[in-house]
Amino acid sequence: MTIDRPNNWAVVPAAGVGKRMLADRPKQYLPLAEKTVIEHTLSRLLHSKAFAAVAVAISKDDPYWPELEISAHQQIITAPGGKERADSVLSALTSLQGKADDDDWVLVHDAARPCLTSEDVHHLIDTLKDDEVGGILALSSHDTLKHVDEGSITATIDRSHVWRALTPQMFRYGMLRDALLDAEGNPAITDESSALELKGYQPKIVEGRPDNIKITRPEDLALAQFYMEQQ
Ligand code: CTP
Ligand code: MG
Repeated sequence: MTIDRPNNWAVVPAAGVGKRMLADRPKQYLPLAEKTVIEHTLSRLLHSKAFAAVAVAISKDDPYWPELEISAHQQIITAPGGKERADSVLSALTSLQGKADDDDWVLVHDAARPCLTSEDVHHLIDTLKDDEVGGILALSSHDTLKHVDEGSITATIDRSHVWRALTPQMFRYGMLRDALLDAEGNPAITDESSALELKGYQPKIVEGRPDNIKITRPEDLALAQFYMEQQ
């Protein structure tokens, strides 16, 4: 059977050490509601049925990954992690070479965001599937925002122009790979969108759910558990 629509692929950077989490292992392997964080993230991507495969970037000497049953799932491809997040993403993209077409969509999603819903995945894809460039899930800020210089407020920022970047971030395979290759080693590239912005593109934002939090600090695990119970 031939499929005449482009495939969507998921890329999951999971090669970080989780310094801010202050735990005895990388945060993606910490327990959360009967599984590890990364198992939630990957099962949610698989259950969304939106992807031909999920490419996961894993650190070279990671002893935890091979122990997880999901690492052998037939839709999961393991790639070596890199020094920075962008290097890990590029490595995972490289592992899809020969499978993904340049025009296929890739959704890059942090391993550390285990509360992602299928609803958000499909909302992002449905909104952007005919877009030239692609875009990201984002959240508006409810708080008044201040510009601060050395502890003192220098201005109040117009909130309507400021959004918090979440993942997934959805771009064309070829465009994202080329943008990340051109930006290699640039510390300002902290997400996929910034690599595309550097090339002069203006990615779209799609409002995401506020429960799609990134596990960053110890208190975030309890919050993720609470959100999962609510979902
Ligand atoms: N990541 C990665 N490769 C790196 C660094 C980060 O794949 N060299 C991944 C992390 O595993 C995580 C995602 O990118 O899923 C988002 O990064 P972040 O939240 O910063 O995770 P860590 O870098 O692990 O945490 P910290 O910055 O606190 O050390
Ligand atoms: Mg980090």
